[in-house]
Amino acid sequence: MNQAATERLLTVRDLRVEFPTADGTVRAVDNVSLDLGYGERLGIVGESGSGKSVLSRTIMGLTRSRTARVTGEVILDGRSVLDLSERSRRSMWGRDVAMVFQDPLSSLHPIMPIGEQIAEAVRRDASVTRREAGARAVQLLETVGVPLAAQRAKARAHELSGGMRQRVAIAMAIACRPKLIIADEPTTALDVTVQARILDLFDELCREFRIGLVMISHDLGVVGRHTDRIAVMYAGRIAERGPVAHVFARPAMRYTSALMAAIPRHDGARRTLPRPIRGLPPNLADPPAGCRFSPRCAHAGDACHEAAPALVEVEGEPGHEYACWHPGSDVTPPGGAGQGQGPAPAHPTSSEVLR
Ligand SMILES: Nc1ncnc2c1ncn2[C@@H]1O[C@H](COP(=O)(O)OP(=O)(O)OP(=O)(O)O)[C@@H](O)[C@H]1O
Ligand SMILES: [Mg+2]
Repeated sequence: MNQAATERLLTVRDLRVEFPTADGTVRAVDNVSLDLGYGERLGIVGESGSGKSVLSRTIMGLTRSRTARVTGEVILDGRSVLDLSERSRRSMWGRDVAMVFQDPLSSLHPIMPIGEQIAEAVRRDASVTRREAGARAVQLLETVGVPLAAQRAKARAHELSGGMRQRVAIAMAIACRPKLIIADEPTTALDVTVQARILDLFDELCREFRIGLVMISHDLGVVGRHTDRIAVMYAGRIAERGPVAHVFARPAMRYTSALMAAIPRHDGARRTLPRPIRGLPPNLADPPAGCRFSPRCAHAGDACHEAAPALVEVEGEPGHEYACWHPGSDVTPPGGAGQGQGPAPAHPTSSEVLR
């Protein structure tokens, strides 16, 4: 393993995922590059259909369609995922990378007691006896905050509440001490209190075990509070990315501020209604020329409809990049006027979102 590979847990370079369909080729992921360090948390946000799940499944070496065309590079802990044999890829799941889905029932066995399922996952990695694996399963349930873990280990998935099931799914995910967890909308189905506990749990796991986290969410607030860096996806591409604090304080790509404006704002006693983004995301089998957001963007000019903007760095903000011909934000930066010509902010300021 070379030096560069040991520094980064995950490197995604020029990744493309295409699905040939009767209506044409769907470019679900179009030239995406990403990096993640050990113990680092990356949030991926974007509207439905922007390619978040396809991207995350491809990082796992798990594209569902047999006809999918995948090009580019995914280097996980020094190994090229896309070049691995089916067997090596399977052995990587759980041990190097684990996935937590929105619906925990999809990853849990309906009949087998949950303790046994976790014990099985433990035994996949370590040469431990059945008894030791059982004890470790109970420990793992305690780690993820399941009360009365020894008793609960005997329960079946359907006997548990949604929040408990998600904890069990996370216990399964960390059973083999993966280096990377990919969580695809892990808390969307949960109520706010349970959601907060699960998100705190992810924070702890990343801190204590230096697990890297890729968290996909529709919820900018969740990503703002529980990740270090954010990548905004639009129509299969990265529209903007960077440290959370910078992207929230000074979003440069117009789509990012439009997303922020789409969240309801609570400003003391006043409540500002969310401003939905007009129009719909494009058909990925026939995307618009130029910037893919241009048909929906209030700031679009001729250039935007002609050529796709490349990612460029915001001056003075290393790692904060955006792809926009008319960058600017409707967010008022601390102590000054906005860089854009947009109206006064009708959406949350960074401190409100990150609160
Ligand atoms: N097997 C497939 N064949 C054809 N198209 C596909 C396939 N899988 C995904 N797509 C398309 O790829 C695009 C991206 O899908 P993806 O599931 O990644 O979106 P998403 O950002 O995760 O959306 P959501 O927020 O709704 O989960 C969509 O247009 C989807 O229809
Ligand atoms: Mg998805």
